[in-house]
Amino acid sequence: MLVIGIEGTAHTAGVSVVSGDGDVLSNLFRTYMEKEGIHPREAANHHAAKIVPLIEESIHEAGIERGDIDLVAFSQGPGLGPCLRTAATAARTLSLSLNVPLVGVNHCIAHLEIGRLKTDAEKPVLLYVSGGNTQVIAFKKGRYRVFGETLDIGLGNMLDKFGRERGMPFPAGPTIEEKAKKGEKLLELPYSVKGMDVEFSGIMTSALNKDATLEDICYSLQETTFAMLTEVTERALAHTRKEEVLLGGGVVQNRRLQEMIGKMTEERGAAYHVPEPEFCIDNAAMIAWTGYLMYDSGTSISVEESHIKQKFRTDEVEVTWR
Ligand code: ATP
Ligand code: FE2
Repeated sequence: MLVIGIEGTAHTAGVSVVSGDGDVLSNLFRTYMEKEGIHPREAANHHAAKIVPLIEESIHEAGIERGDIDLVAFSQGPGLGPCLRTAATAARTLSLSLNVPLVGVNHCIAHLEIGRLKTDAEKPVLLYVSGGNTQVIAFKKGRYRVFGETLDIGLGNMLDKFGRERGMPFPAGPTIEEKAKKGEKLLELPYSVKGMDVEFSGIMTSALNKDATLEDICYSLQETTFAMLTEVTERALAHTRKEEVLLGGGVVQNRRLQEMIGKMTEERGAAYHVPEPEFCIDNAAMIAWTGYLMYDSGTSISVEESHIKQKFRTDEVEVTWR
């Protein structure tokens, strides 16, 4: 069985072909580069221009013909309306023209499922930290449930906003990581954990107002926010009695975050897994693969039911494949 997946929740337009055996035959993407924060309509225009060539290239790179495709999967949400609509329109058109079924995939769950496919993780707690999302997710009683999340913005967006104010290029995460390596003084920033949830806006405002070297500020930003994430992830492990942490989302490429999660899991006798970068960031392979799992367990939707869900909740999805 061959599945084509289309991703388009935020900055990334991606198209991938994956087989039912879990082989990723192609996984291509183009990223919309923001200047002053993401502009949903501009990002959607970017995706509209890139998706058709990406479909062609992805099919070509996979070494298959259009007619070989058995299923179309797309990112149904959560995400930015105009971006989601663009990806959904491409997916509907493709499904109708190839006369194959359509599946709408929850983007956050897809990060978890590609991690289970691409690492040794089996029953993990997922720490998903990207631009727009920050969530701790685990499977419990038939659903993927959110054990903790950001109450305001995603950590990546916060880092990008901070970086923009300080003249760093987009995305700022990697530059902040480099600067942080040279920082040594831990500045006091508001450590904002509320129950199992976290908040980042206050930390950013405080960081922007610090009178200190940029290196020390970046160092303190990372130490504080990563410690918050580590604390919440550890509590989710304890609560669910799980023994594996899976990392997902663009921010988890950060070595310092990996180190902190690594230390916490080691101290608990647990394990942690990080997928290859191409499967950490937003990618269409995760949409194709989760689409396959859903379809294989009896889920598909009609074009009429394929409306996008900007606020698609992780626990809305009935998990038929586990
Ligand atoms: P979404 O929120 O819809 O999943 P996204 O467009 O934010 O999507 P990702 O590719 O998952 O997509 O993540 C991009 C984010 O990751 C950016 O905010 C970027 O600054 C951050 N990032 C990338 N590398 C690093 C790093 N080394 N350290 C910290 N943050 C990083
Ligand atoms: Fe994502």
